[in-house]
Amino acid sequence: MNRWCPFFDMIAEPLDHPHVRYVNSIYELVSTPMRDGVNALCLRRTLEGDFEEVIRHLHVERGITTLERDQLLTLPVSAAGKIAIETMLRDQEQLRAYGFDPEIDCVNGYIGHDQQDLMRTDVCSFHVDRATDIADTYLCTYAGASSIGVCHEDVILRAQEPTVRARLLADFGGADDERFIEYLTENYYDLHYDALPNARTFRFGVGHLWRIAIDYPGTDVPPCIHRAPDPIDGEPPRLILIG
Ligand SMILES: [Fe+2]
Repeated sequence: MNRWCPFFDMIAEPLDHPHVRYVNSIYELVSTPMRDGVNALCLRRTLEGDFEEVIRHLHVERGITTLERDQLLTLPVSAAGKIAIETMLRDQEQLRAYGFDPEIDCVNGYIGHDQQDLMRTDVCSFHVDRATDIADTYLCTYAGASSIGVCHEDVILRAQEPTVRARLLADFGGADDERFIEYLTENYYDLHYDALPNARTFRFGVGHLWRIAIDYPGTDVPPCIHRAPDPIDGEPPRLILIG
């Protein structure tokens, strides 16, 4: 049985997840240290405003479109649409005030995301984010399907799966040594995971603002393994904040 837990949308607090901690403000979100196995912080929110109306006015191409402040403020939306826009811009401004630089994106599917011969390395595959210095990822889904997380105990590095590793080794053309490890890193093959049977997964939900741990030298906690939802043909685009 797959322990799929859409509890971030469905179940009231207190929520029981071994690696998630809930906070009460953006200040707490940005300032709470992640330690003791906690690698995701969540500010739960129920947002007002009509985010779907904003999407309807955007007319975006397929792929990811980053939305600028002026573009959003000039959309001819209703009062509910204006509230949605103000909410997104306020989130962005508050995070900027703490020194972060998130963007607001309209995601209308992905281009070529599932056409990788050797191994999937796209955002719809379970992965960790990585930086060369201290950093975290901030994420909110305002409309559409939300991202999905999985417990880091319940995954296998995809490049460790025998058939995948054999394929990568053939492409590398050398031995399974340190240079192969470098090859994996250079091609992002060491960032992607597959969920094991019965893996504990969860949805990030709509409206909630998340800070998730990423991989950087000296980090105290395992990075949060996550993925974007698979695009479904015919579904409206998503609106997200990410940075
Ligand atoms: Fe990511």
